[in-house]
Amino acid sequence: MARIRVLTVFGTRPEAIKMAPLVKELEKREDTFKSIVCVTAQHRQMLDQVLKLFRIYPDYDLNIMKPNQDLWSITAEVLMLMKEVFEKSKPDIVLVHGDTTTSMAAALSAFYAKIPVGHVEAGLRTFNKFYPFPEEINRVFADELSSYHFAPTETSVQNLINSSVDKKHIYKTGNTVIDALLHTIENNKADLSYIGLNPGLKTILLTSHRRENFGEPIRNICKAVLELVKRNENIQFVYPVHLNPNVQQPVRELLDGVERVHLIDPMQYAPFCTLMKESHIIMTDSGGVQEEAPSLGKPVLVLRTTTERPEAVEYGTVKLVGTDTQKIVDEVQTLLDNPDEYKKMSESINPYGDGLASKRIVEIIEKEFKKQE
Ligand code: UD1
Ligand code: UDP
Repeated sequence: MARIRVLTVFGTRPEAIKMAPLVKELEKREDTFKSIVCVTAQHRQMLDQVLKLFRIYPDYDLNIMKPNQDLWSITAEVLMLMKEVFEKSKPDIVLVHGDTTTSMAAALSAFYAKIPVGHVEAGLRTFNKFYPFPEEINRVFADELSSYHFAPTETSVQNLINSSVDKKHIYKTGNTVIDALLHTIENNKADLSYIGLNPGLKTILLTSHRRENFGEPIRNICKAVLELVKRNENIQFVYPVHLNPNVQQPVRELLDGVERVHLIDPMQYAPFCTLMKESHIIMTDSGGVQEEAPSLGKPVLVLRTTTERPEAVEYGTVKLVGTDTQKIVDEVQTLLDNPDEYKKMSESINPYGDGLASKRIVEIIEKEFKKQE
């Protein structure tokens, strides 16, 4: 039997973290699979950090990132450039991940080439096309364009069943982010000393990068940080600031040089996992962090008003707080002052996966393609 040619396409930090375990699993099964990796490099530095950690050497690198790029250019470049990659690599299946513009445009390009697409992290929805923007429509399109849907949870399976996608190939696999998290924590001992944290203070980890939060919302988040450090002498913030200029500018303007606020560069994944583990509270608008933190038993305050990841909200370890300054201050203060409330939110749960998602996805692909022989 000829090997199954699997082309994995990704471009940003979160896609790379979540696709890395899958690439590694395909590489392990080299008798059955020919693994081919194409990165669009929608992110450059933040993608390369992950490639280095997982020792992934792409076969194709489209290198598309431009400073302050827009959605049109990402879409057009990925759509066009993937055509040649398909012609050269001749894949049997193309794997894309989640909801980025890389994923949507690569799936569309594969559809035009009539190559089947497998969508990893399929079926997530808020049912609001502007929130998150453009991710909600990116993932709806990626699902519509795909033949194989690898859904992480029962909720995402149901979302797909209730949608117009072909129901024949919907699989509940768990989220590969938990594969990445468990592997990274087990195999890396990270040193956080460079941040200069005071071990006597409670650490609050903050990340933020969503388009909907650009402008006033991100400024409100920073103002909440200022108010919280003023009120509480026993806390410190660490904020690895996303490289997007729309994030860098307001954050640096409002928080640079503030005592007990550590603004740092985006972190390597391994130290970031260690920092999540060592934090007291996590404040974030990130999708991936919402999935990882509950496994580590950390309370998460989500700086958004909706989420496509309702499972941990239902368990009570993740809370949607939005971006109103006073609301953020009140919610953090409650967690700092009220041990019962803190305990309720810091139970360790695993609604997103068990660390075996990549293995399941690879086995499903093998079975599906053997059937077709
Ligand atoms: C993208 C995804 C978003 C995902 C996020 C993860 C889209 C439309 N958005 O958003 O879904 O949650 O990644 O972080 O697909 N930059 C660098 N170096 C880097 C990365 C970014 O300099 O390594 C700067 C560049 O100026 C770049 C800008 O950030 O133009 C924005 O990057 P882009 O991928 O367009 O948007 P994100 O907000 O990162
Ligand atoms: N992350 C990281 N370094 C950082 C911040 C985040 O490695 O400084 C990881 C985090 O653990 C998660 C992923 O990046 O796995 C989330 O990426 P991001 O928040 O950029 O995107 P989203 O998940 O919102 O699409």
